[in-house]
Amino acid sequence: MKIAIIGTGYVGLVTGACFASKGHEVICVDVIEDKIKKINRGQSPIFEEGLDDMLSDLVSRNKLYATLNLEHAILKSDLVFICVGTPSKEEAKYDYTYLEQATKDVGLVLKDSDKYKVVVIKSTCTPGTTNDHLKPILEQTSGRKCGKDFGLGFNPEFLREGVAVYDFLNPDRIVIGGIDKKSISMIEAVFTDFNAPILKVDPTTAEMIKIASNSFLAMKISFINEMANIAEKIDCDIKDVAKGIGMDSRISPKFLGAGLGWGGSCFLKDISALYQLSKEISVPSKLLESTIQVNKLQPLRSIELLERALSDHSVKGKKIAILGLAFKPNTDDMREAVSIPIIHELLHKGAEVHAHDPVAIENAKLIFDSSNFYLHEGPEQTLSGAHGCIIVTEWRIYSKLSPRDFINKMKTPIVIDGRRMFNPKKMRSKGINYYGIGLGK
Ligand code: UGA
Repeated sequence: MKIAIIGTGYVGLVTGACFASKGHEVICVDVIEDKIKKINRGQSPIFEEGLDDMLSDLVSRNKLYATLNLEHAILKSDLVFICVGTPSKEEAKYDYTYLEQATKDVGLVLKDSDKYKVVVIKSTCTPGTTNDHLKPILEQTSGRKCGKDFGLGFNPEFLREGVAVYDFLNPDRIVIGGIDKKSISMIEAVFTDFNAPILKVDPTTAEMIKIASNSFLAMKISFINEMANIAEKIDCDIKDVAKGIGMDSRISPKFLGAGLGWGGSCFLKDISALYQLSKEISVPSKLLESTIQVNKLQPLRSIELLERALSDHSVKGKKIAILGLAFKPNTDDMREAVSIPIIHELLHKGAEVHAHDPVAIENAKLIFDSSNFYLHEGPEQTLSGAHGCIIVTEWRIYSKLSPRDFINKMKTPIVIDGRRMFNPKKMRSKGINYYGIGLGK
């Protein structure tokens, strides 16, 4: 099929590239010329495993190209996927500036097209948005009737950053929310080559599935983090507890990794928006509220453990090493990263913070401007002379550090393992004052 993709962020570009790899003809649209040029050279403007190779192959075979010309892309296509960003704004709501603009732009092109097309929203939004808000915009700007002259649907994305191409090509399920049968069957036709069950619903249900999925995953992590804090006090190891819980197929072992909390651009935005909606419609969700609350406190557990380990129980004037800044490994993304509240709190308490991350250094420079904050090229320099170390992101290179590396470099070898990367027995037997989230004495 012929597909236009509006917005070449990580959802748009991955969607476009993956559809093209399945044999569809894809035109990507963006307003940033540099991105267009890069894509047309077969290079990805964002870092996403496997995307560069895919794009260079697809561009060379004329299966995908990018343009600034939205009208051209839409007129040439059967389906138009809107994949622009819906960042969060105040009052825990989504900012629909780009989504509304893109919808208006698409509507204006539909005005001049007699060919039936389906507009598919992929941008995450509050349940009801596609039907109650975007449909009227499309009808007003196009002067045409939705369901008769053009189709409309919502098709949520469940990609994880860093493994987005893999996730897109190997989905657990495909959710198609369409306003009518014709819209659904046109969207379904794009997914014929995917080996996954397809759930067909209305757009509002599909929107709800998207944010409820993210909310549930965040809740699962907040749950295991609370269990970790209990386990720590009663001297059992949350890793064994999580293993035991996860062996129940009804629960599954996934997303039961206790640590310093969840970050990233999606979880907080989606769960906050759903919580806000629950309050507005007078069914305030206690679970969503607690999930957010638990996650606010969890990063600071690392400082509590550190203060407990320090001889004078204070980080003031101490040199503290932070290993890992990105919100998870294999990305330079620091949006809502738990490293941010940890470092701010350490600086607030008068510590001198030395940090390392394999790829997020440039982003970190934009966030921290304190004269007590230092970034280093490698973990060894970061640990040098430190009174304590907090492991915040579980980058693989940190697992290569030996107990000796900590002992040789640090002033006092106190290690707070916020992601439970190391073997506690081995660390402790080699003389490290080792603490882990969800680990007893
Ligand atoms: C998340 C969802 O997993 C995707 O399904 C969804 O499509 C995406 O949001 C989105 O809405 O765009 P992502 O934010 O890329 O994907 O990251 P995850 O891999 O889900 O991790 C989120 C956070 O949870 C990270 O900070 C990670 O360190 C933390 N986490 C994850 C844990 O603390 N423990 C775990 O067991 C798993």
